[in-house]
Amino acid sequence: MSISDPCISHGERFDGLSLLLGEWQSLWRPAPFHQRMPEWATSHAALFDAAMSLDDSTLAGLRDDDPYASVDGVVRHPLAEYLPLAQLAALCKVPALPTATLPAAWATHVGGRKWQQIEAFAPHVPLEPEASLVEWCAGKGHLARALSRLHQQPVTALEWQPTLCREGQQLAARQGVAVTMLEQDVMAATARDRLTASNQVVALHACGDLHERLLELAADCGAGVTLAPCCYQRTAAARYRPLSATGRALAARHGLALERDTLALAVQETVTAPQQVRRQRRRNGAWRLAFDLLQRELRGTDSYLPVPSLAYGRMPPSLAEFCAWAAERKGLVLPGRVDWGDLEARGWQRLAEVERLEVVRQLFRRPLELWLVLDRVLMLEEAGYTVTLATFCARQLTPRNLLIQAARDARHASPSEVLHDSL
Ligand SMILES: C[S@@+](CC[C@H](N)C(=O)[O-])C[C@H]1O[C@@H](n2cnc3c(N)ncnc32)[C@H](O)[C@@H]1O
Repeated sequence: MSISDPCISHGERFDGLSLLLGEWQSLWRPAPFHQRMPEWATSHAALFDAAMSLDDSTLAGLRDDDPYASVDGVVRHPLAEYLPLAQLAALCKVPALPTATLPAAWATHVGGRKWQQIEAFAPHVPLEPEASLVEWCAGKGHLARALSRLHQQPVTALEWQPTLCREGQQLAARQGVAVTMLEQDVMAATARDRLTASNQVVALHACGDLHERLLELAADCGAGVTLAPCCYQRTAAARYRPLSATGRALAARHGLALERDTLALAVQETVTAPQQVRRQRRRNGAWRLAFDLLQRELRGTDSYLPVPSLAYGRMPPSLAEFCAWAAERKGLVLPGRVDWGDLEARGWQRLAEVERLEVVRQLFRRPLELWLVLDRVLMLEEAGYTVTLATFCARQLTPRNLLIQAARDARHASPSEVLHDSL
């Protein structure tokens, strides 16, 4: 398969990704943060040595670059000779949709980045004659207002938070836009009544269970779908059950049993974080790893001990105070004397190793994300939809830039229509 093969079908892509993700899972499933030494360090010793030898500036460059960037069809990555990067790059290459500009006045009361995402997304929402638009998990209905203006049609926006509904309704009224904010828990049984075959249901960054629910209800009634999925790990289920029959078969064939924590890899990317946030995250990481070393020594057990996360800006001001806080949470007693300077240096050393191992793991991030998206695509195809998959914006604007567009094939009857006809 060539890196620029434009004719690959969703099924072939799904097949190819399942094979490679299954084959290489020992490298990308375990989180380096949790292991002092990855198990693959000996089975893939040359790759391990190459990763550990990456210098800081190469590492910094890799963080911002597309890992599959190629020159003349050859992937330019320092670890390319050890991994099937050309195949992964080919499987992850999806068409990019053209960008458009919407009137600047429509952006009033919408944050800058969010507006840019809406501007990139909204023009790709189709509206058939006689169809009507529903926004799923709409927040204040910013996207719904843009869609209503774009199509000059009323839009219904579903959102469960009363305050957001109220504020969204006020914004729509003030701007004279035909948006109805409806207070609705999309997970409730009543959500089924909100969708019909004549709806185009739209969701920008609806998380895990929320967009899975959208897909389930849309497929049941035949509604059109325009979806940019997000946060696959936000699910009630601890283990992922593929949505498509194809996904279930492929997962079984290639031994892909995905835990909730593993799904988080699909969205672990910090391209949009400002420098200061990144610096703070690194220091927090080094301190957490320092505590990890300390707790292993204290407990005499060489295993990771999860420590609760802290809200942004809540990190105690010194490593000693952080360790005291973490030890208390875990019921551990710190020794009277700790060489904090030495422990901190060892924490930074561990961080340097973890960051290099993450380079390897990150090479499988987009393939995993695409695998999850393809599971959604195949689920819709199996339900009689014609589906296209493309990116709607650059990853710098939002890394969650994959767009599923799906229209039910006119000849395909939905389960509820079949039931109705047989009565
Ligand atoms: C990530 S935000 C996305 C909002 C909007 N689509 C956007 O892109 O700005 C998710 C939204 O889903 C809403 N939400 C969460 N759970 C929900 C549920 N069970 N039913 C309806 N809305 C829900 C949240 O209140 C929030 O406004």
